[in-house]
Amino acid sequence: DSKTPIDTDLITLTRFIIEEQQRLAPEATGELSLLLNALQYAFKFIAHTIRRAELVNLIGLYGQTNSTGDDQKKLDVIGDEIFINAMKGSGNVKVLVSEEQEDLIIFEGNSGNYAVCCDPIDGSSNLDAGVSVGTIFGVYKLQPGSTGSIKDVLRSGNEMVAAGYTMYGASAHLMLTTGSGLNGFTLDTNLGEFILTHPHLKLDDSSHKKIYSVNEGNSHYWSDDIKEYIASLKQPQADNHDKPYSARYIGSMVADVHRTLLYGGIFGYPADSKSKTGKLRVLYECFPMALLLEQAGGMAVNDKGERILDLTPKKIHERSGIWLGSKDEVEKLLTFIKK
Ligand code: AHG
Ligand code: MN
Ligand code: MN
Ligand code: MN
Repeated sequence: DSKTPIDTDLITLTRFIIEEQQRLAPEATGELSLLLNALQYAFKFIAHTIRRAELVNLIGLYGQTNSTGDDQKKLDVIGDEIFINAMKGSGNVKVLVSEEQEDLIIFEGNSGNYAVCCDPIDGSSNLDAGVSVGTIFGVYKLQPGSTGSIKDVLRSGNEMVAAGYTMYGASAHLMLTTGSGLNGFTLDTNLGEFILTHPHLKLDDSSHKKIYSVNEGNSHYWSDDIKEYIASLKQPQADNHDKPYSARYIGSMVADVHRTLLYGGIFGYPADSKSKTGKLRVLYECFPMALLLEQAGGMAVNDKGERILDLTPKKIHERSGIWLGSKDEVEKLLTFIKK
């Protein structure tokens, strides 16, 4: 431990990745390390661009809609271009799925072994109001012998080898898992490095906050199970000093999930009679967040109570209802979901 008042032995993301690779050697070939370095470059560039958005008039609509029907913001499109170029430039990404791209992208020139699914700017509808937005990603290793095709991404969430998000708030926070726990990093803009600030983050099952996070504006369309469940949270709770749950909803999945990881509680975007398959997309919103929550000791299920990571999408922009959060909160929800 250093005697000086400042920490001179920082664990940067770059150092963390190398130490992980050495820990997992000789299986770890360094390929994933290269990919994670390309990802962190993309996050730094997007963070920088968002900071300048107000100055250089990057706010507002791009004027087109994407394949899932969303009105694209200028930053959706710029974030998407930054991400695509960073993955192509990594040399070892062969396949890319992006919310902002109708079809799969295959990088013919790359010999890489990885497929990346991404939501370049999540929460973009709130962007102009200054609400935290983020980039969500999930990584598959190509199937053995594959030279890159849609079969490399229409797979169970259990086959994702890495996932995470970077939330662009007051600081840029990267929450990352490569399958051995969840680690949080904060971007030090002076050093230009992500610094390990939340090692081995775990949801605290015993003393987490009683928070539920859902868009109540959709309650008219919810199933009776969900209406009963949410109504039950509004009653005084014996195990919460006779207080009901607090409601917190930011409307940006990355921000709502980030709060859930740090404070506990439950977040949901259930399917309903208006959005029959829910709103959130499986490959680049549900799977990455489900993997992060499980690695932190939490749970993530769909409207039928099935584990999100056990699902297998049939289309790259397929949606699913999702509930995720503290284990005990998701288990309470499951008692309301009639099989
Ligand atoms: P995106 O901005 O990537 O299209 O995602 C928006 C999603 C997600 O961030 C959030 O949880 C959800 O939309 C909010 O939807 P509502 O505004 O319908 O609540
Ligand atoms: Mn969108
Ligand atoms: Mn999104
Ligand atoms: Mn998006």
